[in-house]
Amino acid sequence: MDALTIAAAGALLAAVAWPLRGRLQLSRAKHPSLRGHARLAQRLAKLVPFYEYDSQRFFSSDFAPAGVAQLRRTGFERLSHRLWDRGAETIRVSDELEAGLSDLQFVNRYRVPFQYARYVRSHLKTGAVLKDSSGVVVRNLDGRPAYDLTGSYGVNLFGYDFYKECVDAGIDRVRDLGPALGAYHPVVADNVRALQNISGMDEVSFHMSGTEAVMQAVRLARYHSERSHLVRFCGAYHGWWDDVQPGVGTPRTVRDTYTLKEMDAATLRVLRSRNDIACVLVNPLQALHPNAPAPGDATLVNSDRRAHFDRAAYANWLRQLREVCTARSIALIFDEVFVGFRIAYGGAQEYFGVPADMVTYGKTLGGGLPVGVLCGARRWMKRFKDTRPTDICFARGTFNSHPYVMGAMHEFLRRIDEPQIRHSYRTLDELWSSRAARLNQLLADADLPVHVANLTSIWTICYTTPSRYNWMFQYYLRAEGLALSWIGTGRLIFSHNYSDDDFEAVAGRIVAAACAMRDDGWWWHTPELTDKAISRQILRELLAARFPRLLRQSAHAASWDTIGSIRSPRSR
Ligand SMILES: Cc1ncc(COP(=O)(O)O)c(C=O)c1O
Repeated sequence: MDALTIAAAGALLAAVAWPLRGRLQLSRAKHPSLRGHARLAQRLAKLVPFYEYDSQRFFSSDFAPAGVAQLRRTGFERLSHRLWDRGAETIRVSDELEAGLSDLQFVNRYRVPFQYARYVRSHLKTGAVLKDSSGVVVRNLDGRPAYDLTGSYGVNLFGYDFYKECVDAGIDRVRDLGPALGAYHPVVADNVRALQNISGMDEVSFHMSGTEAVMQAVRLARYHSERSHLVRFCGAYHGWWDDVQPGVGTPRTVRDTYTLKEMDAATLRVLRSRNDIACVLVNPLQALHPNAPAPGDATLVNSDRRAHFDRAAYANWLRQLREVCTARSIALIFDEVFVGFRIAYGGAQEYFGVPADMVTYGKTLGGGLPVGVLCGARRWMKRFKDTRPTDICFARGTFNSHPYVMGAMHEFLRRIDEPQIRHSYRTLDELWSSRAARLNQLLADADLPVHVANLTSIWTICYTTPSRYNWMFQYYLRAEGLALSWIGTGRLIFSHNYSDDDFEAVAGRIVAAACAMRDDGWWWHTPELTDKAISRQILRELLAARFPRLLRQSAHAASWDTIGSIRSPRSR
């Protein structure tokens, strides 16, 4: 072989090997679950068939003996009455509302695993309408109080009365201008200054939701880096825009997002070697459950929900990300829409001691009104280039910097700067972790298969014994007068105005709810009932519903399957 041929073969090999190496590296950085493979998940989701349990199988989908199924049935009826007693009028008004409100139809459909959903919807009604709030309590139309554990999706950090005052005082401040848009009320300058101080960033832009703030951060990263891809981490939520939700839930095929493993060296290798990455998007709330999605009860099919917060380990991960992003000129974006102002005055940057290039805020920052905010270093925030006048990154919005929102935000920022609140941040971790430990002790003392994990005041409930019915727990909690958001026990969000007495009352109700659920037989257990066995059983059911003729026989043959009592649309 002459030198020219060898050189040509070498070049060819390099041309093939280099992209292959990149692909392999990327594959290794993907989470092995479907969550790490957005497009595949999207395709498979379309194949999942609908089936549901009839009124018999509903109570024995884990093959519990007849006596246990009867215990559950009786308990279910009692629970149904308790929920009706708490809010008959609320339920009536909510049902009327649902017919015309698509948002409510959606959440009501996804409160529990779909096999049980219709039966639950018709028998366990909770109502979705409230008439007032005060302290840590909300009240339904029937005047029945419930301790609020929804935190209004994280907005409610200091108690509803705090936000009522922010909105009222804020509107008073800007009333003379009213809803005049385009020009700015003078309070905007104060807000910008305060946010520059809190975030440590040069510039600020105001938007109308967290989703929009994240969208703008990613657009700016792509604009300045002239690179195509954003990196998000497996399971992380960043709003409902396509690029940050590339898998199930998005109709479009998203091609310029990499979903990678969090807290994993393989991801750092990808960041070090690829030239198409514009930004890395971090939702610090994932520290509570890295690589897993926001835990909702609709997907709670067994007991494999895991959560554990390790502050030092996550801080270390963020430091590694910071290093590689700096070295590779990748924008590091902290999405603090949820945790901003909650885990520390200076948010995740302060809490974990790692600076970002851009930070998004939202939720609580609006002082009770809707908002999204982006703060960033000047080099990332600029929307035009001095030397290329037509090369711009367009972003505007009719309601950006709305005077009423700016007024309420001004009030929020003023109040959280007062010594009492500034001081309260110092003991936050200790306070909420000791409360979580106290509840876990109470649950352990009562020998209940439930425990909680927390990142300050953001909690999630985990289950220690394999069960198909953990999603029922949300209804027992509601019957005890605890208000949960639609994702149920996956996310309990406390506002920081919970006193020790309020907390004791909530802890007592959680224990009482778990005792009632246990006594009603839902946590019945045999050694064969493992999380794996449950998952396998559900897979068999899915296959049998999808290929009824092919699999009916084998489904019957399996000891863990009685497919005959499953109803698919065709058999109904
Ligand atoms: C981390 C994070 N980013 C973005 C969003 C989207 O914010 P919004 O619902 O205001 O659009 C959320 C909402 O829950 C969030 O938690």
